[in-house]
Amino acid sequence: MRNFVSKIAAEIPPSGIRKFFDLVLTMDNDKVISLGVGEPDFDTPWNVSKAAITSIEKGMTMYTSNRGLPDLCSALSKDLEKRYNTPYSPNEIIVTTGVSEGFDIAVRAVVNPGDEVIVVDPCFVSYKSEVLMAGGKPVSLPCDAKDQFKVTPDALMEKITPNSKTLIINFPNNPTGGVMGRDDLKAIADIIIDHDLLLISDEVYSELTYEGSHVSAASIDGLWDRTITLNGFSKAYAMTGWRLGYLCAPKEICDAALKIHQYVMMSAPTASQFAAIEALKNAEDSKNEMVAEYRIRRNLFVKGLNDIGLPCHLPKGAFYAFPSIEGTGLSDEEFAERLLTEQQVAVVPGSAFGESGVGHIRTCYAVDRTKLTEAVRRIGVFVESLS
Ligand SMILES: Cc1ncc(COP(=O)(O)O)c(C=O)c1O
Repeated sequence: MRNFVSKIAAEIPPSGIRKFFDLVLTMDNDKVISLGVGEPDFDTPWNVSKAAITSIEKGMTMYTSNRGLPDLCSALSKDLEKRYNTPYSPNEIIVTTGVSEGFDIAVRAVVNPGDEVIVVDPCFVSYKSEVLMAGGKPVSLPCDAKDQFKVTPDALMEKITPNSKTLIINFPNNPTGGVMGRDDLKAIADIIIDHDLLLISDEVYSELTYEGSHVSAASIDGLWDRTITLNGFSKAYAMTGWRLGYLCAPKEICDAALKIHQYVMMSAPTASQFAAIEALKNAEDSKNEMVAEYRIRRNLFVKGLNDIGLPCHLPKGAFYAFPSIEGTGLSDEEFAERLLTEQQVAVVPGSAFGESGVGHIRTCYAVDRTKLTEAVRRIGVFVESLS
């Protein structure tokens, strides 16, 4: 028989975190404290779930329009203007099946085969593979602990060539928790404009910002008409399983992405869209309570890591801490594997997120305080055992 698998599918590397989660599955679940998975440990606010249930009870179970429910697009439009000063009109928004789909259609709408796409590194595991699947060439843009994992103008300049077309950023960042404020974004905006780049800004953690408020890249002077903004409900509203996100872009790009969305997805899940309307209207307090709790956990956890000798910058957003484990003499893969088998704590090797993640581990602190304290104790015992 022929090999039916396409060249692209055969060549795409498997997700770097997959191997690790396969190992976690072989462990005794009651004993393992997992800081590995990047999702909220809270339930979706009940009024949000109830809105979806009510929509189903009323029989609203058909496809929606491709773009999404008009009421949701209008609610998003108002919300984005109020929250981030990014006044996208409803016809510059597409409701997607998570940011995951939004990212996929964004990349496919703008990348031509051979285009160089500059990607923050370390980064969410799907970015580079998505670029490859679109025929583009991912170029890693190192973000360093010494710069609090921000994109610096010098690092960006170094990666630009005549073939560069797009820059992908994600702040607050997975896996580092790094944030870019207004001045940081302004510092790279001129470079983006001067080199006529398009920016894809994944802001899925925007509401999980602990110092000051989130600055959306599209709100920076000169970036609006060259930015695709991605955001969603998974992280801020504890809705990972609802699969709901949105893409915002100037009309021409949005229309191109909408064509792809039409063919690959038709429309995002209908019940989830009703839930999202409720989330935007009536879940601000629930969201703020979750964010306040993440902030407390972050402070507790990061102090704990530094106290046991794993240097860790204070992440200003998302729910990840990204300590350096270089001082232990182990590689990040060895560290994560031995920590799991010897102390039953699951973390992800930093190298799974790109070359700049080497020598770090990603830890997700979206777990309760008792478990976090115990995790720090166990990591401390492990680190001590290495000296
Ligand atoms: C940076 C980043 N973008 C996108 C996603 C996927 O988001 P969604 O659940 O909306 O597909 C994640 C999930 O971990 C993420 O960390």
